[in-house]
Amino acid sequence: MTIRTATLNKVLTIEIARPEKKNALTQAMYTAMARALEAANVDAGVRSVLITGQPGIFTSGNDIDDFMQRPPAADGGEAPVAHFMRALLDCDKPVVAAVTGAAVGIGTTLLLHCDLVYVSDEARLAMPFVSLGLVPEYASSLVLPALIGHVKAAEKLMLGEPFSGSDAVDCGIANAVLPAGEVVNHARRMAERFNTLAPGAVADTKRLMRAPQRARIREVMATEGTLFGQRLRSPEATEAFQAFFQKRKPDFSQF
Ligand code: COA
Repeated sequence: MTIRTATLNKVLTIEIARPEKKNALTQAMYTAMARALEAANVDAGVRSVLITGQPGIFTSGNDIDDFMQRPPAADGGEAPVAHFMRALLDCDKPVVAAVTGAAVGIGTTLLLHCDLVYVSDEARLAMPFVSLGLVPEYASSLVLPALIGHVKAAEKLMLGEPFSGSDAVDCGIANAVLPAGEVVNHARRMAERFNTLAPGAVADTKRLMRAPQRARIREVMATEGTLFGQRLRSPEATEAFQAFFQKRKPDFSQF
């Protein structure tokens, strides 16, 4: 199992633990995370959720081999990644992220749907969908421009430029940058602050804060999902995935 979960002092920790593949997320890992979130949501013994990675790596995003082998079904069946993101969006408990290192693709996208985000000073964030012949996912094409404006979002989504933890704070994606050795403990302490607060009031407040955008987010997610599925099967994406495993730059000159 490459996802570790443990509840300690009313905080459910979901730890991504596949360091040999830079914490790339497989379908089984998404399913494990989705189930952990769903269980936490109905467990009165859990007051908050902490998502974290390994020293130096939060997650390198979707496993690219999975992208090549098992693109999500085009027939409308729910893919494990969609299950995970639905569970994250539907989680009424506060979700805190400790970004322990690089956060690529969905590793950055998921932060847009957390409540508190703390980033290591060594972290690099990136949404290189275009570099992979893909498109943004899970409402990042809506949420990011709304947070930082079109031109700044275009650097991150259209050019796929990586950015630092302090950029993430400036953008409103993250709360604070912490020294690498302190980020998890700090995030945990922040998560534990919910232990003494009224849980119903916290959940209602989270629902209120999310409500105005909720329907729009789901609409955009559906549109992005259709395009993403088509692009996964495109010659551009095939070239990008092959280039990744051949450790070379993709060549899009023939398209
Ligand atoms: N999917 C599958 N395998 C991945 C992976 C991913 N997303 N990210 C890393 N790996 C694998 C590499 O293939 C390599 O495997 P190998 O040892 O069998 O050759 C191993 O993990 C180590 O990765 P490597 O690239 O050598 O590490 P690095 O420290 O030089 O770079 C990253 C780390 C995260 C910057 C880099 O791995 C990366 O850019 N990964 C892909 C990110 C990406 O495009 N994700 C999808 C976004 S939609």
